[in-house]
Amino acid sequence: MTAPLRASDPIVVDVALGDRSYDIVIGRGQLATLGARVAKLRPGAKVAIVSDKNVAARHLDAAVTALKDGAAAVSTIVLPPGESTKSFEHLARLCDELIAQRIERNDVVVALGGGVIGDLAGFAAAIVRRGVDYVQVPTSLLAQVDSSVGGKTAIDSPHGKNLIGAFYQPVLVVADTALLDTLPEREFRAGYAEVAKYGLLGDAAFFAWLEANWQEVFAGGPAREHAIATSCRAKAAIVARDERETGDRMLLNLGHTFGHALEAAAGYSDRLLHGEAIAIGMALAFEFSARRALLPKAEAERAIRHFDAVGLPTRMSQIEGGAPMLDQAMELIAQDKKVSRGKLTFILARGIGNAFVAKDVDAQDVRAFLAEKLKQAN
Ligand SMILES: NC(=O)c1ccc[n+]([C@@H]2O[C@H](COP(=O)([O-])OP(=O)(O)OC[C@H]3O[C@@H](n4cnc5c(N)ncnc54)[C@H](O)[C@@H]3O)[C@@H](O)[C@H]2O)c1
Ligand SMILES: [Zn+2]
Repeated sequence: MTAPLRASDPIVVDVALGDRSYDIVIGRGQLATLGARVAKLRPGAKVAIVSDKNVAARHLDAAVTALKDGAAAVSTIVLPPGESTKSFEHLARLCDELIAQRIERNDVVVALGGGVIGDLAGFAAAIVRRGVDYVQVPTSLLAQVDSSVGGKTAIDSPHGKNLIGAFYQPVLVVADTALLDTLPEREFRAGYAEVAKYGLLGDAAFFAWLEANWQEVFAGGPAREHAIATSCRAKAAIVARDERETGDRMLLNLGHTFGHALEAAAGYSDRLLHGEAIAIGMALAFEFSARRALLPKAEAERAIRHFDAVGLPTRMSQIEGGAPMLDQAMELIAQDKKVSRGKLTFILARGIGNAFVAKDVDAQDVRAFLAEKLKQAN
């Protein structure tokens, strides 16, 4: 990916949570300001940077240099990359290492990586010494627009993803958009599905802007910053309204009920990345909404056309190794969202930019819809 190398003035988005409020600082080259920002927030703190091997090889030196600018001491912990790092085993190792590095209550953990490192290091920060402050330095597009914001931290259980964790907000998020230049293109594209999600769920004008400007977002100029900042503003507003997901925050799950089932069916492997799964999931959610006459068919087609244009999958037939079987898909959906008396909670749409939480979707309707879609796919 070619991109202008000029550093940019940051865009700052506030996550308004009373005395736990924090800034999301977004801009090309902002990693260099990390030390000064941390020193201002927590003068004299020791800092432990947690990263994964892929990210560390490319960006750890720069992060250490930036942090030495302000901190009393900087140490590093590098973990293996991949979802399997979000395990008890790695959590235990990480916590012990943080304690061995003498990270105390008033010190700071920096999560330098994608959502895996953000979720794991955030959870470790939540429990080591009953809670030390942490800073998110997201390095994947998904992490910059989604996982680094909002304070959900977790590891996986053999029973499912993200089942063990805590709500624990960071004290700062620094999203340096230049770090995305080293992200594999497939990962960038998958993260883009979450960007488009914010348009689809609540901001029709943003979705239209993405339709016109997505190539610039991929290319890395100011459009990328704009897309990330708009996404963060949308997520910050929802989190400020509903930190613990009792209402509105559920909207962020648009496409995720179908998506999670497809991801699980593909074994959380690189056959299907999370963003790819939810692109198909959003296409299905819009088609399902059109089927229920909530929105015109053309509107669903427009949403799907955009994912097709950027090269994201929109049909189950595009899953490498094949789509799941109907019973398996329904079972996975039932696991993801509790079924009560045959009713499912789903995020549906009345149009682009107008998603809502539907609490009484008949599991039989979903089954019939999926049966038809799977027939087309298999
Ligand atoms: N906490 C939340 O609210 C939340 C929200 C969404 C997703 N998540 C979690 O996020 C995780 C997925 O995050 P992800 O997609 O970032 O995955 P990831 O952290 O595994 O990163 C994807 C891959 O890209 C590599 N990578 C990351 N940044 C890079 C860079 N700048 N240059 C080169 N390589 C880089 C990583 O090493 C990894 O191989 C899942 O575990 C999911 O559960 C959490
Ligand atoms: Zn997601």
